[in-house]
Amino acid sequence: MSTTAITHIGSLVTNDPALGEGPLGLVRDAAVVFGDDGTIAWVGPAAQAPAADAGFDAQGRAVIPGFVDSHSHLVFAGDRTAEFNARMSGHSYSAGGIRTTVAATRAATDAELEANLVRHLDEARRQGTTTFETKSGYGLTVADEARALRIAAAHTEEVTYLGAHIVAPDFADDPAGYVALVTGEMLDACAPHARWIDVFCEKGAFDGDQARAILTAGRAKGLIPRIHANQLSFGPGVQLGVELGAASADHCTHLTDADVDALGQSETVATLLPGAEFSTRAQWPDARRLLDAGATVALSTDCNPGSSYTSSMPFCIALAVRDMRMTPDEALWSATAGGARALRRTDIGTVTPGARADLVLLDAPSHVHLAYRPGVPLVSAVWQKGERVV
Ligand code: NIG
Ligand code: FE
Repeated sequence: MSTTAITHIGSLVTNDPALGEGPLGLVRDAAVVFGDDGTIAWVGPAAQAPAADAGFDAQGRAVIPGFVDSHSHLVFAGDRTAEFNARMSGHSYSAGGIRTTVAATRAATDAELEANLVRHLDEARRQGTTTFETKSGYGLTVADEARALRIAAAHTEEVTYLGAHIVAPDFADDPAGYVALVTGEMLDACAPHARWIDVFCEKGAFDGDQARAILTAGRAKGLIPRIHANQLSFGPGVQLGVELGAASADHCTHLTDADVDALGQSETVATLLPGAEFSTRAQWPDARRLLDAGATVALSTDCNPGSSYTSSMPFCIALAVRDMRMTPDEALWSATAGGARALRRTDIGTVTPGARADLVLLDAPSHVHLAYRPGVPLVSAVWQKGERVV
């Protein structure tokens, strides 16, 4: 095996408290050695680093684990600039806007959808994302949902079936018929291409009973539940997600004390998506309340053309620190190890021997600069499975 050593790392976030200081397992004057098998072989103080075949001098800058973006909607066509403009002059966001993207997505060819996906993935990678989850949800027919998942599956193993994004326009007068389709023929066509099943549990989308039926049907076909919960209003989504053992409840903007307690006492990760609150001018989710209750918090972009058209994890970190009462350390953890937890992955989100060699070099002495210097392109090199990709 051929090995590469990154040396002279001023500050290395490992996310393993056994390897360094505090919950981030911070190591100063560090080195990381990884192999061409794509995994990390050694992590520790630079002075003790074993010899490697090739070297990269970090020149005192910071290295962090690659970002794990555990929630995005990237199989779509078109954009919603006009809707965003209207919102910024006072209109409010509603689930109905999804229909605009459904029409554009259905009209697009497979090649157009894939090219758009790849363009956004490249954009995310340049900002340090090395793992991403993405969903269907802008097709809403059996064929359009299945093709969205097929296209996504060619680019990531973290694929989510979201036939239950809204009731398809074709079923406007028959929501029960649409739920039957989503849990029947559409599920059969989609399950082979997906790992996860999701539902938008919200006024204007699916209520608690419908969401339960959808997630339960998916689980019976081997898909693991996750849920869009409590985004635009209070509702049953979070409690339902916890009850069904969902890997993650996403958004968590409007939470009762009982919702917070349920998340605090469960394995369900609370995935916060501050790009959505930014872009819809909504109230911020309160990360502090969740953390203080013992919940595991992940941060993610929710990248989609309607409610959150950002692919930037650094931007989400800056918002979480400024507006959601997270410390820079907590936000960095949530954007890396937290995302890995939300995807039930143990091979990513940390810089530890045996983990995937997904590493980001920042043009800064510390990860704190991601929040301290918002909007500045600090990501200066990215390794994905040991291969330099940026
Ligand atoms: O996560 N909440 C539901 N789905 C997306 C929005 C999709 C859209 O507006 O196109 C979200 O915010
Ligand atoms: Fe979403």
